[in-house]
Formats: sequence, structure tokens, C-alpha cells
Amino acid sequence: MPRILITSALPYINGIKHLGNLVGSMLPADVYARFERARGADVLFLCATDEHGTPAELAARAAGQTVEHYCAEQHEIQKKACEEFGLSFDHFGRSSNPQNERLTQHFAAVLEKNGLIEERVDRQIYSIDDQRFLPDRYVEGTCPHCGYEKARGDQCDNCGQLLDPIELKDPYSSISGSKNLEVRVTKHLYLLQSKLQNAIADWVASKPGWPQLTKSIAGKWIKEGLQDRSITRDLYWGVPVEANGKPRPGFEAKVFYVWFDAPIEYIACTEEWEAAGKGANWRSWWRLDDGADDVRYVQFMGKDNVAFHTVSFPVTLLGSGEPWKTVDALKSLNWLTWYGGKFSTSQNRGIFMDQALGLLPADYWRWHLMANAPESDDTSFTLEHFASVVNKDLADVLGNFVNRITRFCASKFGQEVPAAGDYGETEEKLIADLDAKIAAYTAALEAMEFRKAFAELRGIWVAGNEYLQIAAPWTAFKTDPDRAAAGVRAGLNLIVLFAALSSPVIPHTAEKMFAIFGLDPKEAGRWPSSARDALSFLKPGHTFELPEVLFKKIEDEQVVEWREKFGAE
Ligand code: 2FM
Ligand code: ZN
Repeated sequence: MPRILITSALPYINGIKHLGNLVGSMLPADVYARFERARGADVLFLCATDEHGTPAELAARAAGQTVEHYCAEQHEIQKKACEEFGLSFDHFGRSSNPQNERLTQHFAAVLEKNGLIEERVDRQIYSIDDQRFLPDRYVEGTCPHCGYEKARGDQCDNCGQLLDPIELKDPYSSISGSKNLEVRVTKHLYLLQSKLQNAIADWVASKPGWPQLTKSIAGKWIKEGLQDRSITRDLYWGVPVEANGKPRPGFEAKVFYVWFDAPIEYIACTEEWEAAGKGANWRSWWRLDDGADDVRYVQFMGKDNVAFHTVSFPVTLLGSGEPWKTVDALKSLNWLTWYGGKFSTSQNRGIFMDQALGLLPADYWRWHLMANAPESDDTSFTLEHFASVVNKDLADVLGNFVNRITRFCASKFGQEVPAAGDYGETEEKLIADLDAKIAAYTAALEAMEFRKAFAELRGIWVAGNEYLQIAAPWTAFKTDPDRAAAGVRAGLNLIVLFAALSSPVIPHTAEKMFAIFGLDPKEAGRWPSSARDALSFLKPGHTFELPEVLFKKIEDEQVVEWREKFGAE
């Protein structure tokens, strides 16, 4: 049984994620995990909240909570939304857990021992009134490039320029507003990435199968040359910087940089999974000296994360000199935009995960997002397109198929699979057509080409509808009831086949489809290998329940109302 480790980029703790974040990593990772499980792989699918860093401290402050309390509460909120979206993580951890603290300190210690970490002196802004050094985002001021007065220390939101806080004009502390600031010197730990330039270049070159987007981003960073980078920050909330179990002198008020500890959480999360009693031997997933050499590791992320996963985190792993598993396949996605612009909580633009579930069940969103995943380019989400896709693909093609054949069977043959009649030429054609389409669909999912995959799946549903048009049991019934019975039997079996094939992307609906026939999704949901077998899966006499309508159409008035509510301008 192949062992597949799947991780999704870890969502930041500060606030529930929007549809763009969802389709950028967590959702495609889930679809892939479900697909591989259905094929019988031993899958370990992990995610966690990314809890450290300035955004968490700032958001907690804005919420009037301690950062510990804020993170605990937000973790539960995100966990619940993920569950409701059907994200089937084997564990949803927290980067602030003790396992991650221990492991982060371990990596820092071995990297230092290997000569890859050194202390350097930096010039940094100190706030006399706040009595502390201010990390990037705690300093605001006027952008030296465009004159915007509320530029953040790390980047100007107006012109997009990356900044060093000491470049800002008229800087002030975003904690207290104090302008009583001065530049002082302070120590930071630097990870000497430049020393691993060749090792990382060779490692990336050993991954020719990476998708184009991933390869080109990694290639750009390697070509520009790896830069040494500071891995500590002046914050309270984070992994403390220690030496031999004690605060490191000069680093008492500092923690590791969030981007140093966050990817380490992929490993720590596996320890958490074991500690929570959900599995055993976490090391066998990560340590090449403990069985991880037969693991295939697949990561999912938005394009802004690629550099961290193709350069920085591999520096940590390879630089440790220890036998850690590194990523095999790395699927990166472009941006989903909201009507061509940014999703924004503060400007009330776009739909966030909890809001989406308040409007419609998860599968409506899951289908639309995955069938239109931002793979080759950024993609704009519009409610108009969403409604038309849901109405056509889900309501007209899939939902209608299920409804029509079950109701027809019930009215003419009763609520059981009819026994009469044999499959003939029409069914042979259907089988050949479906086999080719299932093979293409499976290959696209294997390659993680989701748009292509779900165009194939839609094609499979359409083939079922076309078959019903040709077999037309409603017409045949009048002259040749046995022929009609065979057509109905094929149609009912197609429902089960469609459920199995659709379960990675619309798992809740697939469960409803299996439930029509009282089937256990684990049994019936195995990945189909042959359309011929699938068409005789349900035996004559197998009883069924009439299903509720699987998908309701989205009305024009709803689109108008949602446009208004979610800022579609
Ligand atoms: O970009 C982000 O949303 C980060 N929180 C992703 C972290 S992924 C991992 F490396 F931890
Ligand atoms: Zn600017």
C-alpha cells in the first residue's frame, strides 16, 4: 500500500479564511487526499493553524484578548469551518504546540552546530515609550517611495514596495502611536542560507516533475542567489530562543521568526497526531532512517509560499544533516480574486468560509472552486459564474440524472433494481466511453491537474445523461419493458459509479448518493477500475430510497442579494 504524506499550507491564525485561501491549498489538498484514500493508499493528511508572528499579536490586541486566548479561540473557529467544508485532515494542529517548540529549538541547535547559524548585529528601531524593539510591522510611517502615510515597516500597502522600517519617514510605533523612536543596535540569529546554495540547487534539480509554476519560482530564487536571513524577531509570542534549555543571552525578549517555525510544524503536527492517539510512529513518516524512504510527500500551497518551501524549509532540513524526508511533489496555485480584486475583511469584499456555509452547503463551493481552480493563472471569482456553474453542472447534469432515474424506476418497477432485460450494444458503447473517460479523469487527478480532472468528471456525468437519452427507458417501457428495465438498471448503477468518482470533490453529496442504496461509502467508494464491473455492482432486487433533491438552483435574486452583501463591485 503506497504511503502518501499530504500537507496543506498552514492558514494564519488571524481570522477565518476566504474562498481564495481555501482553494489555494487546503481544498485541493483535501481532494487529492480523498482521491488517494479511495485508491487504497495509506494517506496521512495534515494541516494546522500558523499561530506565531506579528499578525497574531496585532489581531489579539485589536480583539482585546491575550494572544494565547485569541489563538486558542481562533483555532477552534477555523477547525470547525474546515470540518464543515469536509476537509478531511487526519489532524489539524497548532504551531504553538510544545512539539513544535521543541523541534524548532532542535533544528536551530543542529543548524548552529553545523555552522549555519550565527549572531549578527542589526540596526533596528527602538521605541523608548514602549521600552522595546519594534519588529517590522510594529512600525508605521510615510512611504519613502509614494508618500503614503500609513505604510507598514515591511511593505507599503499603497505602492507595494518592500521596505525596511528604518527607511520610513516620520515613523511611529503602531503599538502606542509614539514617535519617540530611535535606531539602536541589537543582535539577531542569521540562517546562512548562502552556504547551501549548491545543495539546494542540486536538490531542486533532482525534482524535474514539479509543475511549471513551482519550478519557475524556485529557479528564480536560486538564480538570484540564496540570501542569509534573520530568523529571530523582537516579539513575545513565538518559540523562545534558547541555548541549552535556558534563554539565550541577549535574546531574552526575542522569539524565532514565524517562517522559521511554521514549516517545522508539518513535522510537529505529525507528533501531535500520534500524541492525540490518532496514529502511531510519527517518525516513520519523516525520518529516512525510520521507514520514511517509501513515503511520497506532497505539499499544496499558494504561489507566495513556494519560495519558503523550495528554499527556506529545505535549508532547515538539509542543513540539519539529519535524515529528514523532503517534499516530492509540490503543487502550487495562483490567486483566486474577488471580481478581479483582493478579498478583504476590512473592506467587506468577498466571501469567507463561515459566510459561504451560511449561504449554501460545502459541496456547491467545493465543486465550483475546484472545477475553476486558479492553476494556470489568477482566476476571478464572480457570483454570476458560480451560480451558472452550480445550476448547470450540479443541478441540471448530476442532480437531475439522479432524480430522474430513481423516480422513473420507482414509478414503473418499484424501489428496487429491476432484474429483467440484458445489457446490449448501447451499454457496450457506454462502457467503452466511460472506461476512456475514467482513465483520463484518474490520470488528471494523479497529475493534480484539477481543472482538467473536473472537466473530465463533468464529461462522465454528461455521458450518463446522454446514455439515458439514447436508452430512453421511458419510451422503451411502452413497447419493450425488459429493455427499459436494463436501461434503468444501468442508470441506477451509474449513480453509484458517479458517487465513487465524485467523492473527492463533493464528498457530502457522494455520501447522499450512496445512502440512496444503503451503501457504506468505504466499501462502495473504492476507486472504480472498470465501467463494466460498475454497471453490475447493484444486484437485481437491491432496494433504494427516493433521494431528496441533491442541488437546488441558485436564483437570480440570490445573486443580486449576495452581490450587495459581499461587495461585488
Ligand atoms: O502564507 C501563509 O498563509 C502561511 N501561514 C503559510 C505557512 S505554511 C508553512 F510553511 F507553515
Ligand atoms: Zn508606497
